[in-house]
Amino acid sequence: AAPAVNGPEKIVQNVCAACHGADGNSVITTNPKLAGQHPEYLVKQLTNFKEGTRANAVMSGMAGALSQEDMEGLAKYFSSQSIKLNKAKSNGKGSLGEKIYRGGIAATQVPACAACHGATGAGLPKQFPRLAGQHADYTLQQLRTFRTGERANAPMMMTIAGKMSDAEMQAVADYIQGL
Ligand code: HEM
Ligand code: HEM
Repeated sequence: AAPAVNGPEKIVQNVCAACHGADGNSVITTNPKLAGQHPEYLVKQLTNFKEGTRANAVMSGMAGALSQEDMEGLAKYFSSQSIKLNKAKSNGKGSLGEKIYRGGIAATQVPACAACHGATGAGLPKQFPRLAGQHADYTLQQLRTFRTGERANAPMMMTIAGKMSDAEMQAVADYIQGL
């Protein structure tokens, strides 16, 4: 018989896996991959969903049912999984996405993403999330919700997204998927 599964593993199997994959590699591209993400960042997001500063109908309900201990256990579980990379969308040298990621947009004073998310997209400790390998559809959606203010838990990102056009968001999201 299989050993009894308790704690975070049980919550993952019963709840999170349906949308994020048992190993944190979601298949549906509007659901974020959680594998390999910084645990501190994951705990902050769950707390923000619970408090409502990050508005999302699905995740607010989910996070509302979790204790601090559950959140920390789930964050540790997902952060220790390995992210599976997608096929690159656009990682060509000289692409608009690469230019924005590495150099920002001078005309509108958008800073380089690499400054806070790292040259390899692995993020920086502890609250600067990993972006590399994330689904482009999810990244684009986050940039949009930072711009509308629906995702109000990140003043820096709201300012940055507020200065970006749809085409710039799409280009950098595609680049990030292939990072
Ligand atoms: C976002 C955790 C269950 C759908 C997130 C994020 C975390 C998370 C940490 C934010 C990721 C990031 O910022 O990169 C969890 C945990 C779950 C769970 C620990 C189980 C307790 C689910 C389920 C669904 C779901 C069952 C689908 C019914 C989503 C979606 C987003 C999201 C759509 C993106 C929300 C947005 O656009 O802001 N989840 N999740 N999650 N999750 Fe979950
Ligand atoms: C979060 C993209 C520049 C700091 C995020 C997220 C995305 C993103 C998609 C959400 C990740 C997720 O939900 O898993 C970008 C892009 C940038 C950029 C495309 C360049 C155009 C920067 C810069 C800084 C920064 C320059 C620092 C000054 C942060 C922080 C978070 C974040 C702190 C976490 C917010 C939270 O706690 O919810 N970024 N970023 N980003 N970014 Fe950026």
